[in-house]
Amino acid sequence: MELNGKRVTLGVSGGIAAYKAAELVRLLVREGASVRVAMSEAATHFVTPTTFQALSGNPVSVDQWDAGVANGMAHIQLSREADVLLIAPASADFLAKAVSGIADNLLTTLTLARDCPLLVAPAMNRQMWNNPATRRNIATLTGDAVGILGPASGEQACGESGLGRMLEPEEIVEELIAHFQPKPLKGRKVLMTAGPTFEAIDPVRGLTNLSSGKMGFAVARAAREAGAEVTLVCGPVALPTPRGVTRIDVCGALEMHARVMRLAATQDVFIGVAAVADYRPRIVSEQKIKKEDNPPPLIELVQNPDILAEVAALAHPPLCVGFAAETRNLAEYAEKKRRAKKIPLIAGNLVQDGFGGSANTLILFDEHGQQVLEPAPKLALARRLIARVAVLLENPHAPH
Ligand code: C5P
Repeated sequence: MELNGKRVTLGVSGGIAAYKAAELVRLLVREGASVRVAMSEAATHFVTPTTFQALSGNPVSVDQWDAGVANGMAHIQLSREADVLLIAPASADFLAKAVSGIADNLLTTLTLARDCPLLVAPAMNRQMWNNPATRRNIATLTGDAVGILGPASGEQACGESGLGRMLEPEEIVEELIAHFQPKPLKGRKVLMTAGPTFEAIDPVRGLTNLSSGKMGFAVARAAREAGAEVTLVCGPVALPTPRGVTRIDVCGALEMHARVMRLAATQDVFIGVAAVADYRPRIVSEQKIKKEDNPPPLIELVQNPDILAEVAALAHPPLCVGFAAETRNLAEYAEKKRRAKKIPLIAGNLVQDGFGGSANTLILFDEHGQQVLEPAPKLALARRLIARVAVLLENPHAPH
């Protein structure tokens, strides 16, 4: 319930993507938001107000001269009652009107009269999106602090393919959740690793581990929610990329090391969440090793570079944060690693508590000792870790 207690006014403008707004309302309500829907007259040709009323559990406004509203001014009422105004889909026509402050129907009047933040999820044909007029409008709205969500690229209702598709409802909800998070990392660059590494033995086999990547992806999402520009270098995982995060897929530790070292010096923060293999096979067979090859092969291992320790040893290192997954003696091992790698902060967790699951228990170790974060979903823990990182960026010796 990430949107508990939030009041969202959803404006639906006329476009075929309006049908997705129905699913959007359902997801917003599921996250705990109270949703009021306002539709343009054009939108009612695609979806009926009854659909939105049933899904939101609230009356739907279409007409700005709605006599049912106490003060007779639906636009004022709807904006007074909202923590955010979200227009999804936002048509090219709506965006153009919003730029100039035109107020000729309920949606545009509500937009002009609002005293809450405005987020728009554009949806239009790719030619309309690429038209210089729309480009100018988007630039102006961005300058006016309007949040532009998407659009995505792909197949369009008109049969063409390109940029202009409305984001999927799940993605819009993720953006809305991010909107409500504090932004202590605004303007900061965060580089991260996540997931396992896969150390090849031959073209089809390798050494790896059971890291799911979930904790690292949650940290990446939390850092982006906090306003950072996030680059996530990850080993093989089957997880969707958090919105707004730049993802670099790698396989083995050497590749992960190379990608990280290329970027590390320009970052404010480096967080190593990946379960990097300590060793890799010295020789990678070019051909698949056959069972008949006698005797059974002996695989010689060589040590991988310690990515985190190397980043921490840079002349001007970013703030370095490590993770320690242990099966026992967590406090002792985590603190030992923190000192060995010369990093200010390490997050420890017991493998049995967190590996693969969506919840975890974390203990933060720093120069002041340990801080236990109570068991919680990984995203909630990731946000707490990021909050601590933001504090340490401002004051490296800040107490708990
Ligand atoms: O493997 P270990 O327990 O030492 O990992 C502790 C921390 O060091 C983790 O944050 C991990 O991402 C990082 N690490 C690394 N490169 C390695 C091994 C570990 O960056 N080769």
